[in-house]
Amino acid sequence: MKDLTPNKADLDPIEIASIDEIRGLQLERLKWSVRHAYDNVPMYKQRFDDAGVHPDDLKTLADLAKFPFTYKNDLRDNYPFGLFAVPKEQIIRLHASSGTTGKPTVVGYTKNDIDVWADVLARSLRASGLRAGNTVHNAYGYGLFTGGLGAHYGIERLGATVVPMGGGQTEKQVGLIQDFKPDGIMVTPSYMLNILEGFHKAGLDPRESSLSVGVFGAEPWTNAMRLEVEAAFDMHAVDIYGLSEIMGPGVANECVETKDGLHVWEDHFYPEIINPATGEVVEDGEQGELVFTTLTKEGLPMIRYRTRDLTRLLPGSARSMRRMEKITGRSDDMIILRGVNVFPTQIEEQVMATGGLAPYFQIELYKAGRMDAMRVYAEATPDAADSLSKTASARMLTKHIKDMVGVSTEVIVGDPGQVERSQGKAVRVIDNRDKE
Ligand code: DLL
Repeated sequence: MKDLTPNKADLDPIEIASIDEIRGLQLERLKWSVRHAYDNVPMYKQRFDDAGVHPDDLKTLADLAKFPFTYKNDLRDNYPFGLFAVPKEQIIRLHASSGTTGKPTVVGYTKNDIDVWADVLARSLRASGLRAGNTVHNAYGYGLFTGGLGAHYGIERLGATVVPMGGGQTEKQVGLIQDFKPDGIMVTPSYMLNILEGFHKAGLDPRESSLSVGVFGAEPWTNAMRLEVEAAFDMHAVDIYGLSEIMGPGVANECVETKDGLHVWEDHFYPEIINPATGEVVEDGEQGELVFTTLTKEGLPMIRYRTRDLTRLLPGSARSMRRMEKITGRSDDMIILRGVNVFPTQIEEQVMATGGLAPYFQIELYKAGRMDAMRVYAEATPDAADSLSKTASARMLTKHIKDMVGVSTEVIVGDPGQVERSQGKAVRVIDNRDKE
């Protein structure tokens, strides 16, 4: 793989500023953001008043812990525009997430917000090893989903050529990659596996493709998956994180030269890790729930937004800003089996570590008597699809999950192509617990 480390001179100076300088900027911006929310969003005024805190109480960054949390439901309860902090005429873009239940959550951006978003996305792409003059194939979904347009504006801001492909039509994706010869691809890691399959179906060697870096996010994925995709395409696989409520993609990104977790772009998004049960802030280095406060967002300021994503904060490495470790999973996706907490990413690691298995899987939860039970559907690689090999792989995966994750599962290894393919964000868990 090529060395894609960016030139220091091309970085935003704040990326490599001193911690003191970063903390100073954050405090100044945090004061503005908390006041902006209080003065312009009735929900924040009421919440702060009820909690007995006022924007004037924020004198240090640690004072943020006195302020109340904001939850996804607050967006639903104020559907569609109730949390916007500027007059509607100043909002130039809306995005929305459908969610599985209830009303969608709607987010809005001022012109300045869109500008900041493009900047942090361009910074993320540069960290990933891309630069002006490159071509980037954008296979994140366009439309209300934040991925497609978010990435699109960032690619343009970087000065690269964007191929606005969007999701789906795998065969066409492969054809365009062959013809346009992009340097980079932006897509969910699970859909990248479909594209990989598309290469194989077309009789093409993915290692011969023009791609030198993939910028993957929107769903949890493991370092084991990174190695799989990097080997398959002979390219770098870099993690990009974000969420609609805070901005969209580009809140944090890995650096291609280190791949040691995602630098949070702390000049715009202030991270905290809390104990999800008590709401207490924990020390850097400790695992917990990621909470974000926007520092510059005008349209929809978010104060202490509970992401439900589980990770920990680590000190800066390739950049001064702190890193978040690869997300383990969302607290909503945690499976509890006989008292053991299990995340789909842990199963992914074991699937990747088992010979004879392709990198596709799905988890089914069901009731075995009164107990919850888990079944893992995996899939044989074409060269290990005879029944003897499938039985051996199933046995091996069962053992790996038992040894490494600590739970007993049934494993079913199907023929190649049998596990449902992701069309964007993979559906990892099918919950049939109330169906049996
Ligand atoms: O998925 C933003 C995005 C688009 C990020 C494209 C990266 C690339 P939402 O649809 O609002 O926004 O979903 C946000 O997706 O809270 C995480 O649970 C999950 N997520 C996003 N990026 C990652 C990642 C976009 N790199 C939710 N690793 C977040 C793990 C991720 N989970």
